[in-house]
Amino acid sequence: MTEKHSVIRTVDISFSYQEGTQALSRVNLHADKGEFVAMLASNGSGKTTLLKVMAGLLKPQTGQVLVNGKSIGEYKASQLYQHIGFVLQNPNDQLFAPTVQQDIAFGPRNLGLDDAEVDRRVANALKQVGAEHLAGRAIHQLSFGEQKRIGLAGILAMQPSILVLDEPTAGLDPAGEAKMLNLLSRLNREQKITVIMATHSVDMLPLFADRIYVLGKGRVLSAGTAEEVFADHDMVSGASLRLPYISRLLHELRHLDGLPVDDMPLTINAARRRIMELIPPELIINRLVDKENG
Ligand SMILES: Nc1ncnc2c1ncn2[C@@H]1O[C@H](COP(=O)(O)OP(=O)(O)O)[C@@H](O)[C@H]1O
Ligand SMILES: [Mg+2]
Repeated sequence: MTEKHSVIRTVDISFSYQEGTQALSRVNLHADKGEFVAMLASNGSGKTTLLKVMAGLLKPQTGQVLVNGKSIGEYKASQLYQHIGFVLQNPNDQLFAPTVQQDIAFGPRNLGLDDAEVDRRVANALKQVGAEHLAGRAIHQLSFGEQKRIGLAGILAMQPSILVLDEPTAGLDPAGEAKMLNLLSRLNREQKITVIMATHSVDMLPLFADRIYVLGKGRVLSAGTAEEVFADHDMVSGASLRLPYISRLLHELRHLDGLPVDDMPLTINAARRRIMELIPPELIINRLVDKENG
């Protein structure tokens, strides 16, 4: 079975809240080891519900979640938290200790680790999120972006192999958004942590995500690479989403101005390369430097 290769997989998950809202209908998705998977959907589509089901915080009425091929019901809670780390959307819901150091230490301490190992984990987690300088700070004195990173550090201190994040860039300014996505990308590439995140960062997604799931009204509407998913314009607008702005620009240059571009570049560098190919070489001052994803 292909299940063997997925570190996490949902099988036909359906979930209804008590008062009757059906939030998820037969959702199947998976992430393979080391993949960076994004879940793109408008508000109210079921992203948070699905992530909570995947992290074992909500129990679906039907279907199951498999982690390394085993149903999450078969894991003890403490075991499960070492496989899946769930970073909540709002850091205020995640952080509760008085200081940064105490907050990050809480999880490892609960695992029964000795003081030296707890200290090591805290130092390492702070380093991973680039926040060593915040160790002694009071939680309530942190900026929102810092709170988000410390929330992530608290989860990383549990050393999960899968990170599940609910809108990690929501509420951040553009620099904070880029910083968070770069941080997640680095954790994914360098430490082979599998990442599954819900996001609205459409413009950045093609740079980071190996695969994208588009959800609408609790169902999977589309799944594939950014190229595959964004190729279906009707599906994208039907899901109340939009294309990356750079793709829209190229699309309009093609349709309104007759620019001969057949493919649809999704990143600024891909668009730049296509446009440069169409410009007579004698008009180009700087030679095209092929710097992918820079
Ligand atoms: N605690 C709750 N009780 C009842 N309905 C809820 C609750 N949380 C979410 N819902 C409903 O479930 C649906 C999916 O919500 P949610 O998973 O939060 O979507 P998203 O994260 O994509 O915005 C929405 O219709 C929402 O109103
Ligand atoms: Mg949500």
